[in-house]
Amino acid sequence: MKKHLQSPVFKIISKVADQYDKEAYVIGGFVRDLILNRPTTDIDVVVVGSGIGLAEAVARELGGLKVSVFKNFGTAMFKYRGMDVEFVGARRESYQRNSRKPIVEDGTLEDDQNRRDFTINALALSLNENTFGQLVDPFDGIKDLEAGIIRTPLDPMVTFSDDPLRMLRAIRFATQLNFRIEEKTYDGIVAQKDRLKIISMERVAEELNKMMMSQKPSLGFKLLEKTGLLPMILPELQDMKGVEKVKGVGHKDNFYHTLEVLDQLVPNSDDLWLRWAALLHDIAKPRTKRFDPKLGWTFHAHNFVGMKMVPNIFKRLRLPQNEKMKFVQKMVELHMRPIVLSEDIVTDSAVRRLLFEAGDDIDSLMTLCEADITSKNEAKVRKFLRNFKIVRQKLKEIEEKDRVRNFQPPVSGEEIMEAFNLPPCQTVGEIKAAIKEAILEGEIHNDYQEAHEYMLKKGKELGLGR
Ligand code: CTP
Repeated sequence: MKKHLQSPVFKIISKVADQYDKEAYVIGGFVRDLILNRPTTDIDVVVVGSGIGLAEAVARELGGLKVSVFKNFGTAMFKYRGMDVEFVGARRESYQRNSRKPIVEDGTLEDDQNRRDFTINALALSLNENTFGQLVDPFDGIKDLEAGIIRTPLDPMVTFSDDPLRMLRAIRFATQLNFRIEEKTYDGIVAQKDRLKIISMERVAEELNKMMMSQKPSLGFKLLEKTGLLPMILPELQDMKGVEKVKGVGHKDNFYHTLEVLDQLVPNSDDLWLRWAALLHDIAKPRTKRFDPKLGWTFHAHNFVGMKMVPNIFKRLRLPQNEKMKFVQKMVELHMRPIVLSEDIVTDSAVRRLLFEAGDDIDSLMTLCEADITSKNEAKVRKFLRNFKIVRQKLKEIEEKDRVRNFQPPVSGEEIMEAFNLPPCQTVGEIKAAIKEAILEGEIHNDYQEAHEYMLKKGKELGLGR
């Protein structure tokens, strides 16, 4: 393992630890990711003794780096060449039933490894000169890394009860690394699932976001569903699972459809919020579901109802209530529009309206809609994709011609008031809206002169004088 510890910071830690006669190890996620060849920017160092003391000594040796000390946690960190290097004293932890906050005592390296969440996260590499780079792996974490297994080092009932967030971490690591959760560990999650209640939604959302950003987020959501955690986090998504039948007619299982859409989006967008939009695009289908004897299953206005559900879901998960959420709402609202355009003969005015409503998010919307094609009929898929290409082309042509993507009315309210000697009133708004409609319908171009003439004509119709 020696060859992996290339950064000069390790040599310095080694020297200083020996000078002070302290055992020091690099541990946890850094070692795991080193072996998996995943990029990392966090180095965690465990010191048998005071982590803060060693951090300060190492920082001095590195030319007086600024150290941030967190006395309450017994940790200290500094930044070195873009890495966060954190020091902590080895500790033993014991937990009480209703809190994630443990009682912490000084401990040995073994105590410290025992309190960690998974065997693959409990690996330590010695930093002292004599044993530099030697692996300390009491739970066969390397074997689990090689076999792709998530397993708790102690009885999973203890590990998960101590810190229930670890149930989500297990699922998140399984998703990110495409690992399998070992059976007893999995059963531990199922048995302890109700303990998730004591975890703050911020932490839950952090894990969900990490899952969302993985290569195959569906793995995580399927595990959340199977273990029984999903109803506590996203009951709306849980409600999408299952197929109802009336007179032998079923609809598709919207839970699995949604996950397929999300996975299909991944290679085409690394925008977290577009991925959230994919997860939530059909979220109102269970609420709007009806069986019509003539039409079969319908989900009337599920896009509008879904858009309205987004703020509550975001609030519960402590996700941002800002323009990110509005973007997700817009995507949910508009997600059916391009498909309609691709089925019908595409008229310029329909394209103009879509451009107007989607604005700069039009490309994201098209990417979402392409991911929404989950038909198993290859000919159908080809046809849809071909039609979407035509819609994209059309969007480009119309935007170049009419510039409605970020529509600004060519004639202002002030001009309308001045032209007809009007105070601010409803009529001004009506004329403005009529001009916008005329542009979107293609009656006039998005051009000042034409809009001005149209305004005069409209005024005349309304009996307004000059
Ligand atoms: N850890 C733990 N239980 C937790 C969180 C963390 O036992 N609930 C331990 C693990 O040994 C973990 C280390 O603390 O490897 C560092 O935690 P953290 O930085 O949160 O995660 P990483 O494992 O580094 O992974 P990532 O950066 O992907 O979150």
